[in-house]
Amino acid sequence: MSGSQLWDDVDDYFISRLSPDDDALRAALRDSEAAGLPPIGVTAAQGKFLQLLAQVQGARTVLEIGTLAGYSTIWLARALPEDGRLISLEYSAKHAEVAVRNLARAGLERVAEVRVGPALESLPKLADENPAPFDLVFIDADKANNAHYVEWALRLTRAGSVIVVDNVVRGGRVADAGSTEPDVVGTRNAIDLIANHPRLSGTAIQTVGQKGYDGFAVARVLA
Ligand SMILES: C[S@@+](CC[C@H](N)C(=O)[O-])C[C@H]1O[C@@H](n2cnc3c(N)ncnc32)[C@H](O)[C@@H]1O
Repeated sequence: MSGSQLWDDVDDYFISRLSPDDDALRAALRDSEAAGLPPIGVTAAQGKFLQLLAQVQGARTVLEIGTLAGYSTIWLARALPEDGRLISLEYSAKHAEVAVRNLARAGLERVAEVRVGPALESLPKLADENPAPFDLVFIDADKANNAHYVEWALRLTRAGSVIVVDNVVRGGRVADAGSTEPDVVGTRNAIDLIANHPRLSGTAIQTVGQKGYDGFAVARVLA
């Protein structure tokens, strides 16, 4: 059995026992595929992990960078209280349209808002609104800008907030200090920032599963 078949089987088992999709999540994936969006969202196991992280954190506010069809958004928004707030930033109007429908179907339209545009343009506008500090930030957009997103996350959070950066392994190429691949360079810059910033303490975890070999970084804002 190949590694990836085994990883799929084990993920299928864990997901079926611990984080099965319900109707709204299944419909979100179905509509995402029907609209031709790429299948690059988190798995159900990862979505549940994000949800648990938000709950452990007692999060009332979440910022997501990279919405796609809103699959991770649904998992995260469900962790929030009724008066909680999730803002998700998405470059593609088409992706955002699918996500907004998926969030409405999941009954989350009052909690979760999708803002369309390049995140590096949406973030300064969001900062101008002086929002309450976000308790959790999930970074899952264009990887070349990962370090910029961590910097923005720092500006928009508080001591004790959590920042998660997805897909940091890049097929293992993240370990290549000589890489000129923008996604690798952006991710390495984000890791350097987390490593060196006096306000951050973090780690990165490699993962295998339905979406292959990957990993995520988690950082806590210290002050
Ligand atoms: C990996 S997908 C997000 C998956 C989603 N978080 C999930 O797990 O269901 C990345 C998304 O980021 C969006 N994106 C890419 N570049 C962006 C940018 N500069 N600003 C905002 N969103 C961007 C893409 O259009 C895509 O929908």
